[in-house]
Amino acid sequence: MPILIDGLTSLEYRGYDSAGIYIPGAGSVRAVGAVGSLKSKLPKNLKGESGIAHLRWATHGEPTVANAHPHRDCSGTIWVVHNGIIENHQELRDKLIKEGHKFLSKTDTEVLPHLVEHYFKKEKDLERAVLKTLRDIRGTYGAVFVSEQEPDKLIAVRMGAPVVLGLGDGENFIASDPSPILRHTKNVIYLQDGEMAVITPTSHAIYTFDRARVRRSPEKVEWSPEQIQKGGFKHFMLKEIMEGPEVIENTLRGRLVVDKGLAKLGGLESVSEKLRGVKRIIIVGCGTAYYAGLVGEYMLEEYAGIPVEVEVGSEFRYRKPVMDSETILLAVSQSGETADTLEAIREAKRKGILTLGIVNTVGSTIARETDAGIFNHAGPEIGVASTKAFLSQVTALALLTLFLGRQRQMSLVTGKRIAKELLDLPEKVDIILSDHQKLRSLARKYSKYDDFLYIGRKYNYPIALEGALKLKEVSYVHAEGCGAGEMKHGPLAMIDPNFPTVAIAPKDSVYEKMVSNIQEIKARKGKVLVITNREGKELRALADDLIVVPKTLEMLSPILTVVPLQLFAYYFAVEKGLNVDRPRNLAKSVTVE
Ligand code: AGP
Repeated sequence: MPILIDGLTSLEYRGYDSAGIYIPGAGSVRAVGAVGSLKSKLPKNLKGESGIAHLRWATHGEPTVANAHPHRDCSGTIWVVHNGIIENHQELRDKLIKEGHKFLSKTDTEVLPHLVEHYFKKEKDLERAVLKTLRDIRGTYGAVFVSEQEPDKLIAVRMGAPVVLGLGDGENFIASDPSPILRHTKNVIYLQDGEMAVITPTSHAIYTFDRARVRRSPEKVEWSPEQIQKGGFKHFMLKEIMEGPEVIENTLRGRLVVDKGLAKLGGLESVSEKLRGVKRIIIVGCGTAYYAGLVGEYMLEEYAGIPVEVEVGSEFRYRKPVMDSETILLAVSQSGETADTLEAIREAKRKGILTLGIVNTVGSTIARETDAGIFNHAGPEIGVASTKAFLSQVTALALLTLFLGRQRQMSLVTGKRIAKELLDLPEKVDIILSDHQKLRSLARKYSKYDDFLYIGRKYNYPIALEGALKLKEVSYVHAEGCGAGEMKHGPLAMIDPNFPTVAIAPKDSVYEKMVSNIQEIKARKGKVLVITNREGKELRALADDLIVVPKTLEMLSPILTVVPLQLFAYYFAVEKGLNVDRPRNLAKSVTVE
């Protein structure tokens, strides 16, 4: 049992809201909170030669003891721990309940042990029962099964969530990353998607899901646990920027019906009919979340035809906003604990306004206090500077726009086009990320400056604000975002050769305006670093430095144009030798006013 508890401790960096352990023949203990809460509940006699344990970052179902892993079948003899999202969990749960299975949790995971129980009755073989189960599953999983009847055998399966084997001397291990294994052995084998591993204390075997044997020699892990927790990256911020494509995929997973041009948002089902009557949306957030809301404003007005206003939580809660029964409040928050945003929600609820949330942290206060919402499924964001969460928030706002737009005037053609473009985004972000060394050299080139202006228009006006925030919060230099049209009303006075500008100017409906704004800056000998897309030909001669991102719909371009700015800010701070993940004076979640 101490091996399992120590292992969980080394995984706490990946986020947690509950923890649990199961030891065949000895029983299971689960607790809300981190490993410490679990340890305080452990009986002395919880001993055994094998077992499974899990730290949960909730995706479906609140962080409660009942929802904590491991989960079991009806008989309490088949147990599982699982990372990932089972998209078709509801239909499987309904079918299993009809067959008489009793569910104890609200999680998607719990369908796994019950399905294995169902197939085990016929197969009388755990491996075969697990493989049959996987044929019913749609989604992602890194899962480990154990049964009371064969306590020495662990079965691991991988599809879309990491699983690694640790091969020791007379002992073997399975984990979601090498951190918990390293203190016992450095010999590891990484499972690939579509593979199952069967281990005992003295043996291991790997198979494909159609039971073909896989021969793979172990490799030696040279990394320290710290390096592994950062996925080999120097900082969480870079790791999380690099997770962008996967985060967009997870935010979209199971939520697009492309051939009908629809967004399927389970978290809005309970209020779907009320949303048909919505005539006005107030979006509330702070910092990066507020800027995501500003992008949402353009999306919802242009494609859903709904008037939107966006407000920072700290201002909204002291205003006397005019709201009526056809107004809803939409809160955007990664942590789900930001005090200013939370108070804005409470103020709206006091006035009987329907409140929705776009939240990354399941079970957070904002997730619990809003009437309905969309979870980001972006995974824990450790770096104080919000990066992957922003991509997910804007993606979720695009899904909401599709959902509301198709309830209104948006055509099937437009809906399908947006859905298709959303699905292409991860690959386009990948293309940008592959060019990250160019941003590193640009950050080095511009690190001698102490003042920056960021400009953009329409969908990329919020990206000017977000890009400036990223730079100032991790590198402490003065950077201000400004609508490009506003420059001539004041900010242009600051421009000189020592005050560079970052201009976000993809070829879109306001491109020509951006070109002339950039010319105004050049005329005053200001340097300009331009972010554009392939069609922005005129800018190649004009810009001092140019970053080209792939083309997409104008409404989705912020998801691409923000990525170079995240990288630029990251490398700028690294260049200055600053604490990128923990910038001075800031906290990851601002739970005070
Ligand atoms: C952004 O990089 C900052 N960490 C900060 O502005 C953050 O976005 C803001 O505090 C809101 O946090 P939330 O999304 O958790 O509500």
